Amino acid sequence: LHAENEYTYERITEIKDFIKSKCDIDPKVGIICGTGLGSIGELITDAFILDYKNIPYFPISTVEGHKGRLILGYIKTVPVICMQGRFHYYEGYSLSKCVMPVRLMKLLGVTHLIASNAAGGLNQDFKIGDIMLQKDHVNVMGFSGNGPLVGLNDLRFGPRFFSMVNAYDVDLLESAKKIAEELGLKNIKEGVYTCVGGPTYETVAEVRALRSMGIDAAGMSTVHEVTTARHCGMRCFAFSLITNICPIDYSTAVESEIHSNDVIEVAMSKDKDLKLFVERIVQFIGKN
Ligand code: 6GU
Repeated sequence: LHAENEYTYERITEIKDFIKSKCDIDPKVGIICGTGLGSIGELITDAFILDYKNIPYFPISTVEGHKGRLILGYIKTVPVICMQGRFHYYEGYSLSKCVMPVRLMKLLGVTHLIASNAAGGLNQDFKIGDIMLQKDHVNVMGFSGNGPLVGLNDLRFGPRFFSMVNAYDVDLLESAKKIAEELGLKNIKEGVYTCVGGPTYETVAEVRALRSMGIDAAGMSTVHEVTTARHCGMRCFAFSLITNICPIDYSTAVESEIHSNDVIEVAMSKDKDLKLFVERIVQFIGKN
């Protein structure tokens, strides 16, 4: 049947059972590390690590800057599961395949998702190295009917139709802002994210079009993950590390052309701040 998703509830349950047979940690918080942000995984103590290639039915992550492993363990006594490396649409995986790990997290007992990504700043007031807390998203790929939930709906995950209002949990967002302030992080912004399919970065005309829709940052992930997490009732927090500013003027576009190495480099340079930030957010979730 065309509408069938290869990752059925039963199939993901099999993956869950495999993990449970090896590791008895019951994660509460799920973390997805964006490009160059994998060192967030270093926060985890008593780590149980599984390479994607050793997990049944798992796709493999084919991109530089992504390690391709799942870590279960603790951050400040809070049980977590962390994806060091995610799956992207541009790798050739369908959106429903890209989000399978979110559903796996759900079956493992995760109630809160923290997603991170490297993104280009459409908002010209942004600076390289800014951390944009996501207050909302525009599902540009969804406009053309491409989404992770297209196809048969399994009610065990969630309802056929549901609201995406409060997709980014207001309480988490507000506490993240407080935490950033307490940590003295100075480059915090707030804004709207979108996912374009990639692997190309945007043309100048696309930058202008996206900006006119009120979007502040563009990346190649997160939107479908948060959509899937909301479908199964998880609370979501996400942030973008702004690794470059998108060219909105033809006159300066060529000199500001971006390269994926720069993206990874900027992301890795924010390592320390982001580790502390995520640690404190996880702690907050653990207390609530
Ligand atoms: Cl400029 N665009 C997109 N779509 N993703 C990015 C990016 C830009 N920079 C980092 N990731």
